[in-house]
Amino acid sequence: MDRERIEAFLEKFVGFASGATTIGLLAVADRSGLSAYLGDHESGTAEEIAEGAGLDPRYTREILSGLAAAEVVDYEADSGVFTLPQEHALFLSSDLSPYFMGGWLDMLPLVMSQVEGVATATVHGGGVGFEEFGPGFIKGIDRGNGPSQRVFLTMKWLPAVTGLTNRLDEGIRVADVGCGSGTAAILMAEAFPNTEVIGFDISGDSIAIARGRSEDIANVEFHGYTVEDIPTEPGFDLITTFDVIHDLVDPMAGLKRIRQALKPDGVYLMMEPNASSYLENNLHDRGALLYGISALHCMTQSLAREGLGLGAAWGTETAEEMAGEAGFASFEKLDAITNSFSAFYALRT
Ligand SMILES: C[S@@+](CC[C@H](N)C(=O)[O-])C[C@H]1O[C@@H](n2cnc3c(N)ncnc32)[C@H](O)[C@@H]1O
Repeated sequence: MDRERIEAFLEKFVGFASGATTIGLLAVADRSGLSAYLGDHESGTAEEIAEGAGLDPRYTREILSGLAAAEVVDYEADSGVFTLPQEHALFLSSDLSPYFMGGWLDMLPLVMSQVEGVATATVHGGGVGFEEFGPGFIKGIDRGNGPSQRVFLTMKWLPAVTGLTNRLDEGIRVADVGCGSGTAAILMAEAFPNTEVIGFDISGDSIAIARGRSEDIANVEFHGYTVEDIPTEPGFDLITTFDVIHDLVDPMAGLKRIRQALKPDGVYLMMEPNASSYLENNLHDRGALLYGISALHCMTQSLAREGLGLGAAWGTETAEEMAGEAGFASFEKLDAITNSFSAFYALRT
């Protein structure tokens, strides 16, 4: 046995455990309003922050202490003042920031609560169904993807596809498949009033939220369809999927249906987690996060429905291969808008 490796792994494990408890503290800070308060007021002693935020002082001190040790907030020992740096507040305090991570603070505690079910499936097969994660997960997906969609979708992502915004301005037919709570579809409908946007999602709860949010918007509608049932006539000029294909029971059938539903000159914009299809290229913290969220949610919810369980890290190489097999004639990775979390692809028939 190598003593140094034992010591190094002990440190590593402490990092895993403190990461998990820090996420727990941040989830409490998010729900209790502490993060929002810190984002607005930045500094104070634990008692001042507790009073200002209307929180219990004992909890507030313990949570701030944990967040100081985790280097989320700064702590000034002489004055006892805690400060949330503005650069960190971007991630924690307001969903108007594209860096906002509140969605992870909804989703991570919920995926951790399903370890029993995933362990059972690991022994016997099957999986934990999407509904088992509860309505909080639907909210988490939206709080996770919504902030960047609000900032970038119409300003940056759609303009990255040559000629697309002109066509959207003139008025075309768009489908957002796996639309969740409807944020992306609603944003497209609001930005391009001449365009007709239809959101499809298999989750009735998500469709109900999307409909509730869009009652006053004439050019968007939502349907509780599985991707394999989306209408192919009269066809769509643009189809989008944001974080959907890897979740599908039958991703190949989904891709084929999307291709059939595209008009001949249409474009399919696909956003998926940015990963390689080869494990050896994903051996870093983001890879650990991706495989982890996949095993604990994305893959298991697909396997629960006897699906393929493609997994969140299916990666660019497999995406290109499957696109070809589904009949797409071209597959372009949009490097200008791809970031370390998400890869964007434009596919044409
Ligand atoms: C990770 S969420 C992404 C939601 C949304 N696109 C967003 O960006 O917030 C994946 C979505 O795919 C939906 N979905 C899964 N299987 C589907 C299917 N076969 N047909 C349509 N939607 C499906 C889920 O219900 C869920 O809303």
